[in-house]
Order: sequence, then C-alpha cells, then structure tokens
Amino acid sequence: MPDLSHLRADFPILHQQVSGHPLVYLDSAASSQKPRQVIDALVRYYERDNANVHRGLHELSNRATAQFEAVRTQVARFLGAESPDEIIFTRGTTEGVNLIAQVWANHFLRAGDVILTTGMEHHSNLVPWQIAASRCGAVVKYVPVLDDGTLDLDAMQALMAEGDVKLLSCVHVSNSLGTINPVADICAWARARGIVTLVDGAQSVGHMPVDVRAIGADFYVFSGHKLCAPTGIGVLYGRRQLLATLPPWHGGGEMIDSVTLEGSTFKDAPARFEAGTPDIAGVIGLGAAMDYLETIGIDIIHQHGRELIHATMEKLSEVRGLRVLGPPLPAERATLAAFTIDGTHPHDLVEYANTKGIALRGGHHCTQPLMRRFQVPGTSRASFYFYNTHQEVDRLVEVLHQAVKFFS
Ligand code: ALA
Repeated sequence: MPDLSHLRADFPILHQQVSGHPLVYLDSAASSQKPRQVIDALVRYYERDNANVHRGLHELSNRATAQFEAVRTQVARFLGAESPDEIIFTRGTTEGVNLIAQVWANHFLRAGDVILTTGMEHHSNLVPWQIAASRCGAVVKYVPVLDDGTLDLDAMQALMAEGDVKLLSCVHVSNSLGTINPVADICAWARARGIVTLVDGAQSVGHMPVDVRAIGADFYVFSGHKLCAPTGIGVLYGRRQLLATLPPWHGGGEMIDSVTLEGSTFKDAPARFEAGTPDIAGVIGLGAAMDYLETIGIDIIHQHGRELIHATMEKLSEVRGLRVLGPPLPAERATLAAFTIDGTHPHDLVEYANTKGIALRGGHHCTQPLMRRFQVPGTSRASFYFYNTHQEVDRLVEVLHQAVKFFS
C-alpha cells in the first residue's frame, strides 16, 4: 500500500475541525481539494502574469499565452492525445457533453436516428442527448444496468446491431455505483459499426491512467476540479479528423479567421470552439494540478485508491443494515462507495456524519433514473482521493455504527 499521508500537508483545507472533530473529507467525487501548489500557481499568475491570451503583443500577454498553450500540450500528453489541437478547454464535463450534443447532433443527427447511452449516466450525459434528440426527432435509447451495477453489455451490443445508432455516449466510471466500464471494448464495438463515441471521464481522469487513443474514444470529456484543479475548467478531447467536420459552437472573438458584415470564416479546432476570453487562471491551475498528480504518479494514486476502496467495502459489510450499490468485491471498483442503511434516509445520515466532522454526499447524485432502477430514494456516498487514509475509513465506519444505533 503506498503511504501518501505525507501529501496531506499540501492541502491546507484538510487541517481543520468541523463540528468539533477533525475534518474527514469524503466527497472528492463531487469536488476534490486543492494542494498548495495549485493555489500558489493561481496566486503567481494573478500577481505576475495576468493578461488576456492570444491578443496582446506585450510581455504579460505573451507570458499568459505561453503558459496557457503549454497546458494544452500538457493535457494532450496526459491523455495520450495525438495533438494539442485535439484539446478544447471547456467549463467542465457538462459543457463538453453539451458542446457535442449541440454541434455534432445539430449537424449530423436526423429524425429516426438513435443516440445510445446507458442507465447509469449522470444527468449531464443524459439530458443534453434528450434535448438534442427532441430537436430533430431522434431517439435516445438506454443500455440497462444489471443488479450488480454493471452494464448489460450483451444488450448494448444488441442495441448497436439494430442499426440507426449514430452516437454512443457512456460514462467511464459511475459516480453513483463506482462501476468501471470497459470503455475500450465499448468504443471498439461502436467503431466497428461506424458509431461515434463520447466517454464521460469525470470520475476517471486523475484517478487512473487514461489514454484516449488506447480507449479509442472519438470524444472524451472531464472536469478539472475533480483532480485538484480549480472549478470552472474542463477539457473536451476530440479526435482531430472528427473535429475538422464540425461547425462552430459559440460565435465571438478568437474563433474567427475573418469577419465582414456579410459573413465570417472560422479558425480550425481548438480555437473554433473557444470563443471569448477563456478561463486562463483555471487552465494554469489545471496545469499545476496535472504536474502535481504526475509527481505522485497516476499509477500510485490508482493503486492507493484500489486498496482504500477494498478496505472500505470490507469494513462497510460489517455495518448492520448497510447495502452498497454497485459491483461487489472482488470486482474492480472506483474509489467510492454509495450505500443505504435500512430505515435511515440518506440526508439524515449525511447530516449525522457532518456532526462528527465527516463530509459525505447524500441524495440522487444527479442520477435519478439509476435511483429508480435500484428502487432507492437516494444513497449516502463516501468518495476518496489519494489524500484520504485508512484511519479516515476506520472513522467513517465507527460513525456509521454509531448512526445505526442512533437511528434505530
Ligand atoms: N457529479 C458530481 C458528483 O457525483 C457532482 O458528486
């Protein structure tokens, strides 16, 4: 087990008391905490280099632009993309999905076409497709989720074989189940049938090695704030050949080649999809976050996460009336556990945990169809990152035992 506890010293926020107890932050699937190195990079940028990118010819603008574009190259390498031109900065996962659901779907989707997604998607990878489909008379179909929290892959292949599927959008790691989907296989099946693929990497990037070319996704999206970067910055990876076929999304500065009163011509990707002043500080913060993660090593972070979730799952099984959703051990799981406790509403449980200094998330986790599938109003979720420790898992389990007594 890699001991990463020394890294906690990098996270100022972790060293505080909540409700008179040391904070145990177990809500990293919602948003991760930020190390001093990322906070310092933001302060440094604003204190020394702040200026708009791509516009000025002056020193500060040149510095800001150089840093901004260096992060694009860094992200391309981090994801195994072929070129920095395949990296589009967005506000986050949700914006990345919406960009494709609007631009790609407006351009290529016709009445009767099928968008295939799954029953375990976050609303951000579901609602945009419903909106896109309703605009042109296309249909959204859903791959069912099995009782063990995995996708019905036979059903998925059968749906693909029906024809008419133009795009498949699937989550890499479920935020509500912890399921790790075999996205490389899924993308290969789709590619063999000429289906365009989008993978939602909100819960995978920064937790496990992700190589978009090995996965074979046409589009891959994620948010920076779940991997130690600031909020408001995310990435849409798009395969270069596909991006070249897409018309612009937002119109404005920076995305044009030339503008006349009669009409405009547009730059190629990525600039074509980045109208307006971008979140420059966010991008620089994302670069600092990726530097930080790479210094630790993504493989080490992944291994730490696996060991922590295995210990968590084993200890949770001792809590009376507790049921974890998603794949049971020994299946591979992501570093989160969402669970119910008989006779206790998740909101009550999360509030109880808060009185003990533990930050959990409770509710439907933006996956209402999945909650209906498992016939629960919601769950309580503990989600971990590399700064969490086995002592924190023990504290969680101790408090859950207390909660069972308290609510019974
Ligand atoms: N999608 C984030 C979560 O699962 C917000 O908590």
